[in-house]
Amino acid sequence: MFDSKGIIGLDIGSSYIKAVQLKERGSSYELELFEMLPISPELIVEGSIIDAIRLTEALKELTRKAKIKNKNVVISISGHSSVIIKRISLPEMTEEELSESIKFEAEQYVPFDIEDVNLDFQILGPKEEAGQMDVILVAVKRDVINDYVSVVKEAGFNPVIVDVDAFALENMYGVNYEIEAGTNVALVNIGASSINMNIMRGGVSVFTRDSSLGSNVHTEAMQKEFHVTYEEAERLKRGEASEKVKREDAYSVMSQASGDIFTEVSRSLDYFRSSTHQADVKEVILSGGCTLIPGFPRYLSEKIGIAVSLVEPFKNIQIPKKFDASYIKEIAPVAAVAVGLAVRRPGDR
Ligand SMILES: Nc1ncnc2c1ncn2[C@@H]1O[C@H](COP(=O)(O)OP(=O)(O)OP(=O)(O)O)[C@@H](O)[C@H]1O
Ligand SMILES: [Mg+2]
Repeated sequence: MFDSKGIIGLDIGSSYIKAVQLKERGSSYELELFEMLPISPELIVEGSIIDAIRLTEALKELTRKAKIKNKNVVISISGHSSVIIKRISLPEMTEEELSESIKFEAEQYVPFDIEDVNLDFQILGPKEEAGQMDVILVAVKRDVINDYVSVVKEAGFNPVIVDVDAFALENMYGVNYEIEAGTNVALVNIGASSINMNIMRGGVSVFTRDSSLGSNVHTEAMQKEFHVTYEEAERLKRGEASEKVKREDAYSVMSQASGDIFTEVSRSLDYFRSSTHQADVKEVILSGGCTLIPGFPRYLSEKIGIAVSLVEPFKNIQIPKKFDASYIKEIAPVAAVAVGLAVRRPGDR
């Protein structure tokens, strides 16, 4: 039988790869492993693997660093050029019936050749309109999945599930938060080169959107303004002192660059409101490395006029003494997707 105890959530981001393993303890969890490793920005571009050899090496290095023994991993894909997630309305039918007709039903919603994607769906239940049902349709480009799967295998892992970042956030939320019926909560993950948004109503996803903007805008702005390397810019972002650049100057360039991200988040929220005619979003729960930039959550909240909080992906997860609790707390927003992947089990949906 498959040993589901030892599954690692492996979040292969374009700037950091992260691994999380959780131990089940009755209805809650305990953290078993958390490790992350920076990778060079040219290995993964716009959600596609450009340099498989170096990415494989990085994954092997992460394995060594984290002393990972278990080989079963759950990975995820994201990005608007590889993943389509849509809530659609279909005539009522059984799961088996939809399995057979999904390709035909999906064709009009998927902007890629239907033969080139892996399709999945989840029936959300009947609509008020008689004879109709709501379905979440997921289409992921097959060659992108294959690229990720082959790199992960090459690095010595056994990929048991290929998930999607937006759904990983949803699972992370389910483990850690009380679901409030009838309220909209937006999970917004801002990494280096992407924003994943998943708006949930009463714990059910009602809207998702990926954009190809992220904290690379900060890095690029610093490089341009101060003529520094990518690595130096990354250090400046973390608030580290530098001989060349004053901290205040770095801070002001970053604040300016944040404007583009605020606009993008704001636009996605507007799109949600206009396309779904849903009541307003009560809260934005932020994750991803971009949210560690000082002041970012507060300024975003001012810009969009919605309460913003930093995600707590370990809220319901016990942290044993072997971990540095203050480091885990500080870095937690970066681990949100990996936590959501680590709670997946084969055949769980
Ligand atoms: N302590 C920090 N302070 C400021 N910025 C940080 C900090 N840590 C990470 N970042 C920035 O956050 C980004 C990394 O976040 P994250 O790990 O969520 O992205 P990713 O998953 O690699 O990217 P993506 O999902 O977009 O491919 C980088 O741009 C990095 O510079
Ligand atoms: Mg990411």
